[in-house]
Amino acid sequence: MRALKLDARRINTISWFVRFTFLLLLTPNSCSANAVWTAYINMTFYVGDRMLSELGETGIFGKGSALKKVSGIIVPPDGKTQHVCHPNTNFSLGKGRETWFALIERGGCNFTQKIQVAVDKGASGVIIYNFAGTGNQVFPMSHQAFTDIVVVMIGNLKGSKIFRLIQKGIRVTAIIEVGRRHVIFMNHYLVSFAIVIVATIAYFIFYQIRKNRMARIQNRRWQELIADLKDAFGQLQLRVLKEGDEEITPNGDNCVICFEPYKADDIVRILTCKHFFHKDCIDPWILSHGTCPMCKCDILKALGIQLDAEYALELLQEIMLEDLNDSESANDQETNNEVLSATPYSLE
Ligand SMILES: *[C@@H]1O[C@H](CO)[C@@H](O)[C@H](O)[C@H]1NC(C)=O
Ligand SMILES: *[C@@H]1O[C@H](CO)[C@@H](O)[C@H](O)[C@H]1NC(C)=O
Ligand SMILES: *[C@@H]1O[C@H](CO)[C@@H](O)[C@H](O)[C@H]1NC(C)=O
Ligand SMILES: [Zn+2]
Ligand SMILES: [Zn+2]
Repeated sequence: MRALKLDARRINTISWFVRFTFLLLLTPNSCSANAVWTAYINMTFYVGDRMLSELGETGIFGKGSALKKVSGIIVPPDGKTQHVCHPNTNFSLGKGRETWFALIERGGCNFTQKIQVAVDKGASGVIIYNFAGTGNQVFPMSHQAFTDIVVVMIGNLKGSKIFRLIQKGIRVTAIIEVGRRHVIFMNHYLVSFAIVIVATIAYFIFYQIRKNRMARIQNRRWQELIADLKDAFGQLQLRVLKEGDEEITPNGDNCVICFEPYKADDIVRILTCKHFFHKDCIDPWILSHGTCPMCKCDILKALGIQLDAEYALELLQEIMLEDLNDSESANDQETNNEVLSATPYSLE
């Protein structure tokens, strides 16, 4: 019963967490500030008079980017580094007045600074590629918003490949289109919340396992204690008083626990100190006091038992119950024997 109740409570708690998580996951969905947009980028390479193009959902729009379709030629900065942090960085533009994208490497300064330089030089868009060693990882950049400027991030491998092609004199153009909206990029709040949920569930599981183990250990100790006690009581002699015993004479003692005089057929228990009392009076007394009521001799200690007083009553009940069961099963055996011995008789 108790285990069932506990399970129900645990399931309630977990379902509460799940509901709360869904609520949190849905909240950013209705709030455009946290939405992330992917970018479809169609790159076209002109090798001689051949044209190769490559389309993929390879970019992520920056958080302050304009969300619209733009096309143009890709232009990296002049000079050794592609960081574009310095305001007098130059871009070698062709003769025409086409729209163009600045191709910039991440690092050296913040995104806003890079975009500002490119915008000052007249770029319509900014393509920033990630650090070396990050493969094709991308993320939504945080930067100041510039009116009408498209800002996307692409992976390092892709960015450096485009850069090398342009250096070889190949003309690369791109068409950037708004892709799909995503909310899977978790903010710090959601990440920490996910950790809390995982930790809580782990705690519940751990707690349950520990509780079960404790219960098993407790149960084993309990059984051992009962066995020890039964052994100990078994060592204490029992005697059934008979008519004519000296204890039954009018001058005989009363049991000091119940103050009744001893009668014939009373079962008495004789303690290690040789004092005796009614079995039904002394057994509970020893379990709760541990000592002889007459001489204070420590009976349980003498029998090698250490007992916590608060368990005494429960132990006593259990021992008495087992006594009852023992005598019942003894009766059962007798009946079985009768049946067995009766069987051949009825067959005849
Ligand atoms: C990519 O752009 C080129 C040049 O504008 C175009 O010819 C090609 O069809 C585009 N590819 C896709 C898949 O849209
Ligand atoms: C950019 O071009 C200007 C004018 O042509 C020149 O003075 C300047 O030094 C160049 N900057 C770099 C970083 O090359
Ligand atoms: C970017 O750097 C500039 C100059 O160092 C600074 O003024 C600006 O606050 C920075 N912006 C962000 C978003 O960190
Ligand atoms: Zn008594
Ligand atoms: Zn005694």
